[in-house]
Amino acid sequence: MEFLKVVNLSKVYGKGENQVKALNHVSLTIDKGDFTAIIGSSGSGKSTLLHVIAGVDVPSGGKVFLDGEDVYAGDHEALAVFRRRKVGLIYQFHNLIPTLNVEENITLPILMDKRKVDKERLNELLDLLGLQERRTHLPNQLSGGQQQRVAIGRALMNAPQVCLADEPTGSLDSRNGEEIIRLLKESHKKFNQTLLMVTHDEKIALQADRIITIADGKVIRDERQVAR
Ligand SMILES: Nc1ncnc2c1ncn2[C@@H]1O[C@H](COP(=O)(O)OP(=O)(O)O)[C@@H](O)[C@H]1O
Ligand SMILES: [Mg+2]
Repeated sequence: MEFLKVVNLSKVYGKGENQVKALNHVSLTIDKGDFTAIIGSSGSGKSTLLHVIAGVDVPSGGKVFLDGEDVYAGDHEALAVFRRRKVGLIYQFHNLIPTLNVEENITLPILMDKRKVDKERLNELLDLLGLQERRTHLPNQLSGGQQQRVAIGRALMNAPQVCLADEPTGSLDSRNGEEIIRLLKESHKKFNQTLLMVTHDEKIALQADRIITIADGKVIRDERQVAR
């Protein structure tokens, strides 16, 4: 089922001579529950694509639909609600709040949304991420892998329909990187989440249902992989 739809998406940064077309008329559809990898060289527009889908970077042209909703049709507040409730974004560098502990970092999006924390959901995530024993630790008391797991928890706390991960293993060693991918895949399966992941790592991309290659702001290749 078509779930995420990107139509003729463009993003232009800068003006005049400094103008950069980060996205150049990108169209694609993603099925619900699919795990899609996005690959492409540095500067090809991968992060921009994720940010525009996530509602954090407004497109210069084109549309994004999630579950039938036109993401940019509403006002500022509607877009903020979309960001908080519908998508989970995981960055290469986790950007946790240093003064908040594990539990507080994970529940921050809920509190910002002025909603009550679902303790059961929190415990489920802490179990899944192996962070139960670290719930009151601050980010600087955690390893890089643990910090990235907290960032995953924060992205998944809202049970978002779409998880967008931008090189989530980019700053980790291979063992921790593999662990993060395992967790993301487990969560994707367990919660039937649609997972869109930017990666440089061919081994990770090969685990996806589909691989989309971006170059110069355009989709140049789109392959569905045979069932594994
Ligand atoms: N905020 C910005 N201002 C100006 N140019 C930007 C900005 N963000 C990205 N770009 C440019 O847009 C292009 C695509 O960037 P990005 O989406 O980050 O690529 P990737 O994630 O594939 O490395 C690059 O040429 C980059 O320099
Ligand atoms: Mg990038």
